[in-house]
Amino acid sequence: MAAHMMLLERFPAFRAAQMRLENATLRRRETGFDAAKVKLVTIKTVVNVVYKTTEQNISDAQIKSQFKAMNKDFRATNPDRNQTPTPWKGLVSDVRLQFKLVKVTRTKTTKSGFGVDDAVKKASTGGIAPFSPKTHLNLWVCPLTGGLLGYAQFPGGPEATDGVVINYRAFGTLGTAEVPFDKGRTATHEIGHYFNLRHIWGDTPDCSGSDMVADTPNCAGPNFGTPSWPVVTCNNGPNGDMFVNYMDYTDDKAMFMFTAQQVIRMRTALDTLRGGLI
Ligand code: ARG
Ligand code: ZN
Ligand code: CA
Repeated sequence: MAAHMMLLERFPAFRAAQMRLENATLRRRETGFDAAKVKLVTIKTVVNVVYKTTEQNISDAQIKSQFKAMNKDFRATNPDRNQTPTPWKGLVSDVRLQFKLVKVTRTKTTKSGFGVDDAVKKASTGGIAPFSPKTHLNLWVCPLTGGLLGYAQFPGGPEATDGVVINYRAFGTLGTAEVPFDKGRTATHEIGHYFNLRHIWGDTPDCSGSDMVADTPNCAGPNFGTPSWPVVTCNNGPNGDMFVNYMDYTDDKAMFMFTAQQVIRMRTALDTLRGGLI
């Protein structure tokens, strides 16, 4: 969020685009837009592997394993969705997005690790520029410092840095993917941001913030690990925080759903600022 705030400051057009998108999302909600009726869209996706060690130059099989995982998550065909607590079962929603790997770039770097400053997205700072970011989702896979699993750019931002960055230790389901982030859910979470989803706690350290999604309960802050249900905060009892949502900070095996309103939010971003992907 700190990196996002900086970008909004530097690019006033980004801020304006985000505001327009928020209004468009609100209008769709009010006009009773049906999340169950959105059509299936396949997103052309590029993976940019930026590595220093040979281990970090992850295999094609590991890349494929990531696509397999997220193509289940974004169709709500992931088997673990049936662990959703009963009161929320009806909210588990199909985003009707699929991701097709169309290109892999591999770049050797002298950098031991990257942060949220977008250095990985520029050749002059040890990374590689995105490939056609208006029409393609770009994923960068690289070593990230400070325990960061990944980060994403929201819709409407500068093209040169558009896309999602993921730690090579939290990418895919095999090879260098490490427990408890070995089910490909870092990509699912970050692609959620790329399609304008916020964290379910609203990114404030109290109960004041909101993810601007009506069917995710308001909650205080991130949940970690594999909590036992329910976790009640912000008077959101009896069901409590929806920590099984992809937009919390729980372990990969503890998150397995998007809600209907989150689908509307993502699909509004796709139909507007991210229309070039269709
Ligand atoms: N940006 C978040 C982080 O770096 C990603 C959290 C993803 N969570 C997960 N279970 N994979 O912490
Ligand atoms: Zn996040
Ligand atoms: Ca909410």
